[in-house]
Amino acid sequence: MAYPLKFTYDNCLDSAVGSEGIARADLDAGQCAEAVRAFRGRVDSGAIGFPNLPEEKATASAIAEFANDLRPELDHVCVVGIGGSALGACALDVAMRGPHPVQLSNANGKPNGKSRAARPQLVVLDNVDPGFVAAALERMNPKRTAVVVIAKSGSTAESLATFLIVREWLVAALGKRNRERIIAVTDPKKGDLLAVAKAEKYPLFFVPPNVGGRFSVLCPVGLVPAALIGLDIAKLLRGARDANAVCWSEKLAQNPALTAAAVHHALDTRRRKKIEIVYAYSSYLWGAAFWYRQLWAESLGKRVNRKGEVVETGQTPVAALGVTDQHSQSQLYMEGPRDKMITFWDVEKQRVELRIPKEFSKLDSFGYLGGKSLGQLFHAELVATEAAFTEAGRPNCRWTLPRVDEHSIGALFQTLEFQTAFAGELYGVDAFDQPGVELSKKLTYGLLGRKGYEEYAKKLKAGAE
Ligand code: PA5
Repeated sequence: MAYPLKFTYDNCLDSAVGSEGIARADLDAGQCAEAVRAFRGRVDSGAIGFPNLPEEKATASAIAEFANDLRPELDHVCVVGIGGSALGACALDVAMRGPHPVQLSNANGKPNGKSRAARPQLVVLDNVDPGFVAAALERMNPKRTAVVVIAKSGSTAESLATFLIVREWLVAALGKRNRERIIAVTDPKKGDLLAVAKAEKYPLFFVPPNVGGRFSVLCPVGLVPAALIGLDIAKLLRGARDANAVCWSEKLAQNPALTAAAVHHALDTRRRKKIEIVYAYSSYLWGAAFWYRQLWAESLGKRVNRKGEVVETGQTPVAALGVTDQHSQSQLYMEGPRDKMITFWDVEKQRVELRIPKEFSKLDSFGYLGGKSLGQLFHAELVATEAAFTEAGRPNCRWTLPRVDEHSIGALFQTLEFQTAFAGELYGVDAFDQPGVELSKKLTYGLLGRKGYEEYAKKLKAGAE
């Protein structure tokens, strides 16, 4: 299959938006080619692994086989994870199974009105708000739930605490057989989750050590939950492979991920567009917008560059939903501070279509709507919003997907990961670490009395006095 996505950025150019825009010449072809080569070096050295995930066909087949056996016994798949260990599964679920909270199918329903569903619902426990966890447990039947505990580090406090609560809930219902319902996804060599999984003999899938959390959706972190809820993970990987076929090109015109990285970087560094609004015109892409928010923020928000100089880089990604947020956020984006660029996510073919009835047609506000499709109105609003932003001198670009299916979503994930990696090279920062979140983790450990973190508890105490 061919690469399914299109990236257009004419409305980021000064010819469209005046002095707020960039010139095509601002996209430095030499610097961009160098960014591809530098990133290629990191992949070839084995330091970074996400571009190779679509080739892991044996892992994907093993996951699909495992999931096909277990799925008929399930009503729910409960993911216990956070950040990169949760957002990908959630994005896949929303994209393929329908926007929350009105998903088309659950285990007792009939997806698309066709066959009786053996398709469990996904529940993602990515917060330790006790009410949230308690409500989720109340709604699931432990006898018909698989728990997928995901932590690459094997030590994330939120995920392990939630896991202990969910495990206790399973043990109460299943006794020793709880082990048959817990699947662990973690590092192959280290970590306390690995130790528990081995001791308890949980089915285990591994996160490749050179694949970081927010780049891990196409490894077992995203694929195990996706396969358990019945998605076609082979098609996802095919989409990602098709992205690889274009994303390694050193030529801007042939590489949409590289072009997008260069456009974002130029708008930020030359026109001070410090905020990116990701305007998803599809409720099915709402989860993906939140997944991308983490990818862009955590990868590029860095205090120092690779040379150790203080740079404090990074655009702030904001997820917005078309058309809903036209009536909530667009006023600010249109007339507020000129610190934003907008990226529209457009879908050419809607999954379903609804015709607007021709009623009350003598009244102006109804008359022009009747007989049109809801998708037509949806798309017209995107085109109109885009034109209005352009006229107001607000740079905007667009990703277009032919439809929301596994192939396009696989391509979208892989492309945006490449875009992020290339942007890291252009900014000169390490897009694959997250040193900024370490301190709050250590302070939490200190507060809760974890061994080895006593000095952090003292620090907090001293601050409070
Ligand atoms: O991108 C990242 O590396 C992080 O957001 C992690 O995914 C997140 O902190 C969860 O880590 P872990 O999988 O170790 O629980």
